[in-house]
Amino acid sequence: MDGLNVKDIIDSYNQKANERNISHVQDWKKIERDLFLNFLKENNCINLLELGAGPGRDSFFFKEQGLNTLSTDISPEMVKLCREKGLAAEVMSFAKLNIPDVSYDSIWALNCLLHVPKKELKNVLKEIKRVLKPSGLFYFGVYGGEDFEGIWEDDPYEPKRFFSFYEDEAIKKILSEFFSIEYFKVIPRKVVGGNYHFQSIILRSKLGD
Ligand SMILES: C[S@@+](CC[C@H](N)C(=O)[O-])C[C@H]1O[C@@H](n2cnc3c(N)ncnc32)[C@H](O)[C@@H]1O
Repeated sequence: MDGLNVKDIIDSYNQKANERNISHVQDWKKIERDLFLNFLKENNCINLLELGAGPGRDSFFFKEQGLNTLSTDISPEMVKLCREKGLAAEVMSFAKLNIPDVSYDSIWALNCLLHVPKKELKNVLKEIKRVLKPSGLFYFGVYGGEDFEGIWEDDPYEPKRFFSFYEDEAIKKILSEFFSIEYFKVIPRKVVGGNYHFQSIILRSKLGD
């Protein structure tokens, strides 16, 4: 469909859609949303595209704050939950966005681009950059800090999901080929829980590229 093998990931997330919809939103994620919202306000952003939106809780937050949002996800069950919240939402892969060039002031992608195989990441970043306006803002939030790529064997989801994780300097190097890095912060494991820390990154489309 778009260079990514998405069949398994669609099955996994379709099955967990309702569970994820009612799960608790951790405080550190709320802080991340507020942080990006401040960037959006300072830059007079009007519209926001969410990638891998899941059940749309972040889109809902940004919409309530006055942004014109579009939620996208590869899982039809997730998109259904977005629409039930009154959100504009479309089934779409971030590898092939059915969206015109230079149409968004901002893009929010929380814990979804970690499902992209490493050899495909640059193609996905190109696609994201294509739809972002010149000097638009892009929030890229993923677990990482170590180099890993493969199926998570202890994953409670079925089929078990594929993940890619990057060391901090490695992900910065790739992202800076396409964007300027406005902000980079590590949120430690003890705050986010689990085996990896979190990489909170705010990027800006490079003018003139
Ligand atoms: C870990 S969930 C995160 C959902 C939401 N961003 C959140 O933080 O609650 C990852 C989401 O990415 C979506 N996803 C995975 N691969 C995708 C792709 N190629 N295109 C669009 N969405 C994708 C999944 O369906 C899932 O809803």
